[in-house]
Amino acid sequence: DSLSVFPGEKTDIWRFAGKVLQGDPNQLQQLEESWLGPIFRLRTGQRVRIRFKNRIPQESIVHWHGLHVAPANDGHPRLAVLPGEEYVYEFTVTNRAGTYWYHPHPHGLTGTQVYGGMAGLFVVSDEEEQALGLPTGDRDLPLVIQDRTFSPTNDLVYLRSPMERMNGFLGNRIMINGQADPTFDVQEGPYRLRLLNGSNSRIYRLAWSDGRNLEIIATDGGLLESPWSVPDIMLGPGERVDLWVDFAGSSQETPIALQSLPFTPGSGHMGMMSSRVSPPLGAGFELARFQVRRTGRTRTSPPQRLARLERLDPAEAVNRDNPKRFFLTMNHMQPTINGRTFDMTEVAPDEMVRLGSTEIWEFINQGSMMAMPHPMHIHGLSFQVIGRFGGPGYRFLDRGWKDTVLVMPGERVAVIMRFADHKGLYLYHCHNLEHEDLGMMRNYLVR
Ligand code: C2O
Ligand code: CU
Ligand code: CU
Repeated sequence: DSLSVFPGEKTDIWRFAGKVLQGDPNQLQQLEESWLGPIFRLRTGQRVRIRFKNRIPQESIVHWHGLHVAPANDGHPRLAVLPGEEYVYEFTVTNRAGTYWYHPHPHGLTGTQVYGGMAGLFVVSDEEEQALGLPTGDRDLPLVIQDRTFSPTNDLVYLRSPMERMNGFLGNRIMINGQADPTFDVQEGPYRLRLLNGSNSRIYRLAWSDGRNLEIIATDGGLLESPWSVPDIMLGPGERVDLWVDFAGSSQETPIALQSLPFTPGSGHMGMMSSRVSPPLGAGFELARFQVRRTGRTRTSPPQRLARLERLDPAEAVNRDNPKRFFLTMNHMQPTINGRTFDMTEVAPDEMVRLGSTEIWEFINQGSMMAMPHPMHIHGLSFQVIGRFGGPGYRFLDRGWKDTVLVMPGERVAVIMRFADHKGLYLYHCHNLEHEDLGMMRNYLVR
């Protein structure tokens, strides 16, 4: 497809173009003027059949990021279909209400295809959430953050060097929903902003420009128990955060902006290398502006009770005394997990788990000259973060149900999960898409 992203030449992109063949047409919300695919809007318990037709000139397969689906529906690279072929998904949405997403997952090509434009949101609602009366319609605003670099003729520019591949791609334009420097016209009153970091490798440290706190109401796997009010939060690739915001009382003259604050991504070495890209990883900049139309309303606050959240108990983990440990290391130019790289079917002994069991896994990013952040993602389930040790001490999205967790250099992050749903082969990997494509990905097997 060709899109007018900037004045001048059109930009060639790959994207998901979809239509509803059966059922309510509103189950797909088409976005105009954006390379993003349509937003799926479904309810917990709903059964769906999705026909994916591959019309790009590479093999591909779609992964439903965060959804608890059986292996045949999970988009494992071994299921990739050739150009012209199709793959049919059929599953019941069992996840709780939340902001999930979808993107291609062919081995070695995920970064290329997501960068080319292939990604979209998958929004699930349920009764518990609907009873809260959170903002809907125009006041339920998705914000997908991605960075891109464009050539002088508006072509997308991707991976110019092995170094860029090893560090993860950083673009020089920050795009929201496929648009540069967007301003959203909003009114006073409450909004729900659904943020997805859909970037290949860039990390953001979100904050409001007027000094107000972020009111976090949901993370990867849906609503928190109660709003979490913080001055700033780190958002790694693949992670989602839902913000509640009331623009009432904001100044009409200075639009309020969502920004990314500066942070230190890791060891000095890494900072030096990435400083060739502008803005470097960890630089501060503006993401989006909100122009507020005054209507004279007074500012409200979010509901104080949001949802019931089951807490997984570490004492119930089968490996509570002996967590699985996954060391994230760079061996020369190769990012690895426990020294291993991806193999289509291989499963090591420490990558096997029992259906129905609860386990603790630890991701360990040892600080070294070459250490860099790794947003670790696990397919097929949601987990909870039970510990974060060492590292630079920023504020992370460690609450609620998660499927992706940022592990900074020098950090050890412990997560707990139950393999409750399906037997079979799933993936866990770094969601820095260049790292994933380089093989920083492994299978795990539920038996
Ligand atoms: Cu969003 Cu396996 O990825
Ligand atoms: Cu996923
Ligand atoms: Cu990584």
